[in-house]
Amino acid sequence: MKRKVTKAIFPVAGMGTRFLPATKSIPKEIMTLVDRPLIQYAIDEARAAGIREFIFVTSRGKSALEDYFDDAPELENALRKAGKTAMLEMLKTTNMDSGAIAYVRQNRALGLGHAVWCARRLVGNEPFAVILTDDVIAAEKPCLQQMMEAYAETGGNMVAIMEVPPEKASSYGILDIADDMGAIVRARGMVEKPAPADAPSNLAVIGRYILTPRIMQHLHRLKAGTGGEIQLTDAIAEEIAQGDPVYGFRFRGQRFDCGSKPGFLQATVAFGLARDDLREEFAQYLAHMTAVQKAAE
Ligand code: UTP
Repeated sequence: MKRKVTKAIFPVAGMGTRFLPATKSIPKEIMTLVDRPLIQYAIDEARAAGIREFIFVTSRGKSALEDYFDDAPELENALRKAGKTAMLEMLKTTNMDSGAIAYVRQNRALGLGHAVWCARRLVGNEPFAVILTDDVIAAEKPCLQQMMEAYAETGGNMVAIMEVPPEKASSYGILDIADDMGAIVRARGMVEKPAPADAPSNLAVIGRYILTPRIMQHLHRLKAGTGGEIQLTDAIAEEIAQGDPVYGFRFRGQRFDCGSKPGFLQATVAFGLARDDLREEFAQYLAHMTAVQKAAE
């Protein structure tokens, strides 16, 4: 029987070295795309997909994240007194009910798999989602919601996938495909960061997962076996090796890698242009900058 997925893990314990010096004191997940931190996009997507329990795997220096989801009584009072009801409403979307959000600590950055494993007791014996806040996805229907609908048919494990050019394969986990059914593919293997010649397909895994609790057991064994980083990919590959289904899901939408500078800048442009209140002025400015650039060439 397929169980409803109501828990999501947000691994936010990485060091974010690609955004130094900003990330010396600001968690990467608090960096803002237009006017909302990355984490807000991830939370909104999770809520739309029916997630009710939000589990953050954090580390030192991430207290700004905890504050972000707390009530802000002084600010709320000031806005109320000033009659700024629209702003007050918007602010409410950032508040989390008491008990809906939990934090566990990853004491050392031992990899994404290790971060997920840190949440094992909170997940218990239930399927769960994992959302990487670096991957921001612009989509008519939020990506995780699309996945939940597909998962309702398939069960098992599901990872979001997208096509990448061969030269980019070495930046991703790549699926080896047993059966391509269109939106859904069944995997017979998964390779982490292969050289272009070794990539079994052009389908790369990005930061949305629906996983069975067995993954935690695989991570536990991997933890015992390695001294270096513990990869989530290896635990998923172990599921396949044991004959448990792993599906890739071709989501509809555009993914931005906000963990990298070019990706973050591209997302800023795309999300800026998508906003009714900013589009006109911003588009004019971009056209002007493009013309200036061309003239200089
Ligand atoms: P990244 O590979 O992007 O690493 O992690 P990072 O530390 O965040 O960033 P860079 O590469 O140094 O700039 C992918 C996701 O896994 C989490 C990160 O927070 C990010 O959401 N992560 C990674 C952990 O929670 N713990 C880890 O030990 C490693």
